[in-house]
Amino acid sequence: MSYDYELKLNNYSTPQRCAKALRKYLKNTNSYILDIGCGTGLSGQEILNVGFNNVDGSDFSENMLHEAKKKNIYKKLFNLDLNRKYYRVNFRYEAIVAAGIISPHHANPSCLEKCLNILLDSGLLIFSLNDHAVEDKSFMDEIFRIIDTNYEILEKNYGEHLPGIQLKSYIYVIKKLKKKIKC
Ligand SMILES: C[S@@+](CC[C@H](N)C(=O)[O-])C[C@H]1O[C@@H](n2cnc3c(N)ncnc32)[C@H](O)[C@@H]1O
Repeated sequence: MSYDYELKLNNYSTPQRCAKALRKYLKNTNSYILDIGCGTGLSGQEILNVGFNNVDGSDFSENMLHEAKKKNIYKKLFNLDLNRKYYRVNFRYEAIVAAGIISPHHANPSCLEKCLNILLDSGLLIFSLNDHAVEDKSFMDEIFRIIDTNYEILEKNYGEHLPGIQLKSYIYVIKKLKKKIKC
């Protein structure tokens, strides 16, 4: 069974919810958006569906990048391991979407901190956390430690993730804080 087929079978809903949340807070549909952990492009497709047209994608799996490329969703696709120490990306995005990617099994909470280097000031980060991630206390403590010092939470909503297996997720919309200049 293919990755896309299995997720469709279980009504994978998080990418659509992330895209809707992005559209609610980002009015300019020409904004540059990065879909991290883009997989085969299900999340990128939803971002296009709500009207955006400058969407790049990244993943650490060459197979996933290969599948995503076939769909012609992304302007640029590149390999980025979200658990590496530092992200060498010489562009700053207005928004980053991380659908189904921040979890104890995929990207560490530290990716929220490293994304600051590739987000414009006041840039948005939209990410999901499924029920399993939320149950992991040390994982969540680390998420909130990073958010508290670097971001403002604009929205948090709970809803369907994979209804086919009764799994739900939170979608967070967070905004990068401008750094205070020390006198
Ligand atoms: C559940 S899929 C989500 C894909 C896509 N965002 C979507 O919503 O359909 C998780 C993706 O994260 C990627 N991934 C997992 N760990 C990663 C890491 N450390 N760095 C970059 N990508 C990672 C996997 O290769 C996979 O494509």
